[in-house]
Amino acid sequence: KPAPPVTLVIFGATGDLTRRLLIPAIINLTRSGLVGKDLEILGVGIEEGNDEFLRTRLDEFLSHLNSGGEEETPKDEAWFSLRSRISYLSGDFTKNQIFEEIGRRIDPAGNAAFYLAVPPSFFGPIVEKLAEHGLMTESDNCFRRVAIEKPFGTDLASARALNAQILARIAESQVYRLDHFLGKETVQNLMTARFANMMIEALWNSNYIDHVQITAAEIVDVGSRGKFYDATGALRDMVPNHLFQLLAMIAMEPPNSFDAEAIRNEKSKVLKALRIYTVEEAEAHGVRGAYGAGTLNGNQLPAYRETKDISSESRTETFVALKLYADTWRWAGVPFYLRTGKALTARDTEIVITFKKVPFAQFRETDVTRRLPPNRLVIQVQPDEGMSMEISIKTPGQSVETVPVSLDFRYADKFDIGHTTGYESLIYDLFIGDQTLFQRADSIEAGWAAVQPFLDAWAQNMSVPDVYAPGSMGPASADELIRRDGREWHELGVLLHAQRT
Ligand code: BG6
Repeated sequence: KPAPPVTLVIFGATGDLTRRLLIPAIINLTRSGLVGKDLEILGVGIEEGNDEFLRTRLDEFLSHLNSGGEEETPKDEAWFSLRSRISYLSGDFTKNQIFEEIGRRIDPAGNAAFYLAVPPSFFGPIVEKLAEHGLMTESDNCFRRVAIEKPFGTDLASARALNAQILARIAESQVYRLDHFLGKETVQNLMTARFANMMIEALWNSNYIDHVQITAAEIVDVGSRGKFYDATGALRDMVPNHLFQLLAMIAMEPPNSFDAEAIRNEKSKVLKALRIYTVEEAEAHGVRGAYGAGTLNGNQLPAYRETKDISSESRTETFVALKLYADTWRWAGVPFYLRTGKALTARDTEIVITFKKVPFAQFRETDVTRRLPPNRLVIQVQPDEGMSMEISIKTPGQSVETVPVSLDFRYADKFDIGHTTGYESLIYDLFIGDQTLFQRADSIEAGWAAVQPFLDAWAQNMSVPDVYAPGSMGPASADELIRRDGREWHELGVLLHAQRT
């Protein structure tokens, strides 16, 4: 169903996010008929220029993509139709003048969505100015919404303060806090996998599940993002947002309905149940690393601390591994091991559910069966989205020998999913007013509350992160974190990749 007419006002229209993800996503939505000719885009940016300036900028970027760039984004009819509905306003986001001008440019009785593709220090002030200028006032016939990119706060106190600042001016129902992981197809599939399959959900608790692993590994290093990254680090950048969204989908109770609030209530409940460690416990349950110098993909990579814009004294981590608990009836005693980092072996995001071992193995005599591996369900979020189930079978022949095999499903084998940016659902939902895939204030704060002890521990402890080699899977201490519990990290993407080759 096509979205209603709306003016999308993008703050930060000349930035990378707008041209790389937002505009291509809107082009895709236009092609699939989900947004129509009644979408107007008003780009706002600090650079001088008129409408043609922004349109040409976007043209150039799309041509670059078409000529073998990273993504395939069309410069076709959909783009040309959209192009004529893009206008530009240049000015300073901190001054009243620009908000007065926006007020003149948009229909006072029309729908508007304001997209904050700007540095986080502008989030609160822009929302305040929008509200002060009456731009956030809704009526029965028109909505006013604001979409806010991450990072939402840098710790618990700042996230609370930002929520308070925003919610003093506008209602929660007007706030769309983005987490782009929720735009990924496999992430949205997590609820279906769980709640549409008796076989899976029946076993989904501490009686049958030994532990859960969530890994978001990246090959990319910090590159030119030094300034942002050194003030942020792997924990803040990935854990309370992306990894906790995955964790919430895995650990939440079934919602009573698929309404946004019902789902967000359940996600919020489980995030609030994450155990809040003391600083000492955080020291014992968290490991951080920073990559040293080495080779990555055949290229020489300087150590993190030798990278441009990074202080040689930096104590910022580029890798983090944590052991967490969700203290609920369902998950009592089940550890959740999370890890994420840069300059690692592979780009791979996966969730691994390891089931408990069978209570009694009749196959004791054979060597193989002493090593009878537990069943595992591997949910591959990216790349090669899919799922895989590891089970043990008997090898052909007279003796009883067991061997693990995997039942694999890859999206690409079954569906033609085409190219998407991952932002299509998020933007469409912003227009139709569905907040399911957006983070509510309480969930954000619950996430920060659970990571705060790690931030505190590492701020107090003057040691530096453990060094790891580029192209590895993090420091030895991360292996130690899980090994001391008699467990191992799952080898990345091994099943799905194996099938392909
Ligand atoms: C962003 C982080 O939010 O997510 C980046 O700031 C990270 O550091 C990125 O690389 C990962 O997203 P994706 O979709 O590439 O897995």
